[in-house]
Amino acid sequence: MKYLIGVDVGTSGTKSVLFDTQGKEIASCTVEYPLYQPKNGWAEQDPRDWWNAVCKTLKYLTEKAEDGEICGLGISGQMHGLVMLDENNEVIRNSIIWCDGRTTEECREIEEIIGHDRLMEITCNPALEGFTAGKIRWVQKNEPENYARCRHILLPKDYIRFMLTGEYATEVSDASGMQLLDIQGRCWSDEVCDKLGIDMSLLARVYESPEATGYITKEASELTGLKEGVVVAGGAGDNAAAAIGAGVCKSGKAFTTIGTSGVVFAHTDKPVFDKNGRIHTFCCAVPGKWHVMGVTQAAGLSLNWFRGNLAKDISYKELDAQSAEIGIGSDKLIYLPYLMGERTPILDVNSRGVYFGLSAMHTRAHMARATMEGVSYSLYSCVELLAELGIDVSDMVACGGGGKSKLWKKILADVYGIDIKTLASQECAALGVAILGGVAAGVFESVEDGCNICVSEKEKTESDAVNHNEYMKYYGLYKKLYPSLKDNFKELSTL
Ligand code: XUL
Repeated sequence: MKYLIGVDVGTSGTKSVLFDTQGKEIASCTVEYPLYQPKNGWAEQDPRDWWNAVCKTLKYLTEKAEDGEICGLGISGQMHGLVMLDENNEVIRNSIIWCDGRTTEECREIEEIIGHDRLMEITCNPALEGFTAGKIRWVQKNEPENYARCRHILLPKDYIRFMLTGEYATEVSDASGMQLLDIQGRCWSDEVCDKLGIDMSLLARVYESPEATGYITKEASELTGLKEGVVVAGGAGDNAAAAIGAGVCKSGKAFTTIGTSGVVFAHTDKPVFDKNGRIHTFCCAVPGKWHVMGVTQAAGLSLNWFRGNLAKDISYKELDAQSAEIGIGSDKLIYLPYLMGERTPILDVNSRGVYFGLSAMHTRAHMARATMEGVSYSLYSCVELLAELGIDVSDMVACGGGGKSKLWKKILADVYGIDIKTLASQECAALGVAILGGVAAGVFESVEDGCNICVSEKEKTESDAVNHNEYMKYYGLYKKLYPSLKDNFKELSTL
């Protein structure tokens, strides 16, 4: 029996999954870790927590796979986080992660130094707080002693690769989110690095996602149970990885994921970009191709936050059942999901969450439903934007934690006005990188071949036109709320 492993270093925890070479899930294991928010809008994690979680999950899986051979492994993970290592490969400070919003000033400086148009030309994206370049600049300015000690800059999953293989390597999909990559040329931009004072020797070597980047070392073998020499593929940023696990590897295919963040993602054969920078254009995990995606910062995080603070006594399933009893529009309650600021389409780190229209008749079930609806409206604005760019999103798959909720899937299908498919494996990111591991190990001929073998559809949630029209009345109002509150959010941030 041959196996593949996909490791997904997420924000709430690391999930590692053991698959057979047909993409069937054999075992999975998750280990959670904390998110530190030292200030409102800041977000940090300890890379050593990720590594401990990876070791524990892999140990569990390797014991389950004792009857066979694990022939390849791929790593996926939260994008954009800044990991800095010193000359002894020790972590210098906590990682400033994707949903940290402290770098507005640094982003403005980056735009000034490089020039907005030139930055768009090279990196296909405007300077955004979530991306890594601003975080590097923040450390350069605010913690010069830490920056002076830095010998290697890595992304979260690439730190895990280093711990597994001893290699400083990354791959194009995740590197795209650093704002240092030439997205069309698929290599580091010396112009951007030079102008931002970033020595390119600090950066990892860039591979295509299915390429072999290294092999399990003796030390890692002892800690994980993996055999020394198992190949580790480039892997991919969590969204590019989920695309592969969802079979989104050619034009005309799209998916929505509701993880901590929410994403609407479409494959493209060319690096199409929005000149206003409201969606991201990145290299995708299929060599020589790209993707565009819109991001809702707090998608699953919104419901997670809601349940954690206001409904701890009941399960997600019960919360779902109670919310399903409430009608479309949650009896005139609208939620704006800006708990961690927002990216698509408003690009505003100062925005914050709102329940609009709260009345004494509302219960927490109304609030839970409004939370799912609000996140769905935000994702729908990404769908609208992609359509505006001429990208076809009608072949839509859902994955991620939120994709498991029947209610949330139905809300999404009705809000989008598009049928939504779900797949046999809900672990799209882990499956995606397991497929990439399979390509690196020679099990599959190509990424497309791996998708054909491993990805299968399970069911379809149909969209109802009457419901869609009803939701559009609320969506119309939802869209007006941010422009009305924009200045108030700014004022709030200065108090
Ligand atoms: C994408 C993004 C998030 C993170 C965390 O740009 O910031 O999707 O990758 O999941």
